[in-house]
Amino acid sequence: MTTTLLDGKVGIVTGGGNGIGRATCLKFAAEGAKVVVADFNEEAGQRTVDEIKGAGGEAHFIATDVGDEAQVEAMVAAAVEHFGGLHIASNNAAFVRGDTLLEKYDMEHFHRGANICLEGVFLCLKYELAVMREAGAGAIVNIGSRASVHPVPFGSPYAAFKAGVNSLTRSAAGEYARFGVRVNCINPGVTRTEGVARYIEGKPELERSLVSNAAMLRMGDPEELADAVAWLCSERASFITGQSLGVDGGANCRMAGLQ
Ligand SMILES: NC(=O)c1ccc[n+]([C@@H]2O[C@H](COP(=O)([O-])OP(=O)(O)OC[C@H]3O[C@@H](n4cnc5c(N)ncnc54)[C@H](O)[C@@H]3O)[C@@H](O)[C@H]2O)c1
Repeated sequence: MTTTLLDGKVGIVTGGGNGIGRATCLKFAAEGAKVVVADFNEEAGQRTVDEIKGAGGEAHFIATDVGDEAQVEAMVAAAVEHFGGLHIASNNAAFVRGDTLLEKYDMEHFHRGANICLEGVFLCLKYELAVMREAGAGAIVNIGSRASVHPVPFGSPYAAFKAGVNSLTRSAAGEYARFGVRVNCINPGVTRTEGVARYIEGKPELERSLVSNAAMLRMGDPEELADAVAWLCSERASFITGQSLGVDGGANCRMAGLQ
């Protein structure tokens, strides 16, 4: 008998309407999970749900801004109510703004970035962990960034928020291991999402500079990130918690001068 990685699980993916989050939703469903697609972009989130249902899977859309505590609380409650529990989650929603010297950042952008990228992950953990502690089991994968462990030009606030996500992961993992709940983090390298594809379109120099960050000299595909998230959420990773895993084509073994 063949079993899939996430048979019978119920999972939430925030930012499930696009990019890595969308690929994670599709992967969770393909591996047997019932998926709650959470996104503040209703059209995109609903599209992911339709894709999953079209392929014979089960999915439910919940409109959520992860930076709003009441909405995150409602998201987790609605997931439990709709599918009868919550076993896995990927806290993925974020937005990237990295285009200026530190001195030029306006504080409105800083605060919204902190709200979505860091506070959003904290809020998701807060409500997901409560349900999983009660159930005595669960696995969560937060999405950080390569930027959290390696400086990127003009993205100092984003890098700091993502470092916070790595740190939150370790603390949450340490507190909740005794309740049977695992918490890990994935730090993606540059990944060819639609947004990234649009950003580099017609700019071969920029594309070359981005791929040169990885020893593999290429970008990741969202599906490669989703594979890692699904595996960390599965029982195959049952002895792994508190880790931040770079899924980045070998960004930390890139050797200057080797092309
Ligand atoms: N793509 C990359 O190269 C890359 C590299 C490193 C890290 N990451 C991280 O991976 C994750 C996914 O990135 P992506 O490139 O797939 O993004 P994306 O922009 O393609 O998709 C992000 C999704 O999140 C949703 N979203 C944004 N803010 C939200 C909010 N406040 N509440 C709910 N939903 C919200 C958007 O509507 C969108 O559907 C992010 O955490 C990002 O920081 C991406």
